[in-house]
Amino acid sequence: MTQLQFQRHRRLRSSAAMRAMVKETYLHKEDLIYPIFVIEGENIKKEVHSMPGVFQFSLDNLGAEIDEVVALGIPAVILFGLPAEKDAVGTGAFHDHGIVQEATRLIKAQHPELLVIADTCLCEFTDHGHCGLIEGDQILNDSSLDYLARTAVSQAKAGADIIAPSNMMDGFVTAIRAGLDEAGFENVPIMSYAVKYASSYYGPFRDAADGAPQFGDRKSYQMDPSNRMEAFREAESDIVEGADFLIVKPALSYLDIIRDVKNNFTLPIVAYNVSGEYAMIKAAAINSWIEEKKVVLETLLGMKRAGSDLIITYHAKDVARWLEEKK
Ligand code: PBG
Ligand code: ZN
Repeated sequence: MTQLQFQRHRRLRSSAAMRAMVKETYLHKEDLIYPIFVIEGENIKKEVHSMPGVFQFSLDNLGAEIDEVVALGIPAVILFGLPAEKDAVGTGAFHDHGIVQEATRLIKAQHPELLVIADTCLCEFTDHGHCGLIEGDQILNDSSLDYLARTAVSQAKAGADIIAPSNMMDGFVTAIRAGLDEAGFENVPIMSYAVKYASSYYGPFRDAADGAPQFGDRKSYQMDPSNRMEAFREAESDIVEGADFLIVKPALSYLDIIRDVKNNFTLPIVAYNVSGEYAMIKAAAINSWIEEKKVVLETLLGMKRAGSDLIITYHAKDVARWLEEKK
């Protein structure tokens, strides 16, 4: 008999204890950021039809939701606002009594230890639904920056712990950093949507946040899914401009990009597990075609393994519960 030469990898998989000993990647509650949609009005808790389990909350219903998030041990939420009225420049975004500002005040009063991250964009507040100002069918870059900086400052004033600009105008980090510093918020970090692709996976979010562009698309400011080198350029410029965290978005179809960014930069990396990714899993789970808990945990673990330090995910409450069960 010839002696076959091979390695016995199965030795380290032989029991649960052995497997636990060599486990390389962990998902923790501390990694999670939970998105919350706040809407002007009263007595609203409306489920987003393409995102089962995700709701729009009016302020009078927000408290209970926040209590639950805190009780589950989730350390941070990211807020998206739906104003009662929209206009050409997105006034609701930077109004001191805008919906995000009011929600921030409410949350910080109730749970000062919960980190409030404010998404900084104009698209939910503009009547045309674009992330910057427009002229005809053009999305204006430079004149949008001042409005974005004002939005960030009003969010910081309301008590936001972190500013997360998602608009993809060039120079938004510089403009927002300058605005925050000038207003005395030099200690408020910027979690930049540095690498944000023009993705079809944002579909359900546009129901959730009522922020669909009323004409055209976002391809002149969000990135082409084909591109990898462009991700390096975007990450690099945001770092130079003063970003404190880098978001890569979406996550699932961009795990290679998460790894690239992690390997080449030293800031904390945040994966955004977006609405369409959530909707796909939910749809399959509701049909019992997949085991939701196992699939979600495997998916998020994959994002961690790819190099993300933090994950923005609509699954956060479920995940926090499941991780607790496992202990
Ligand atoms: C708005 C914004 C979007 C998302 C986060 N902020 C939509 C978009 O850019 O079209 C998407 C989040 C998701 O799909 O979960 N700038
Ligand atoms: Zn936007």
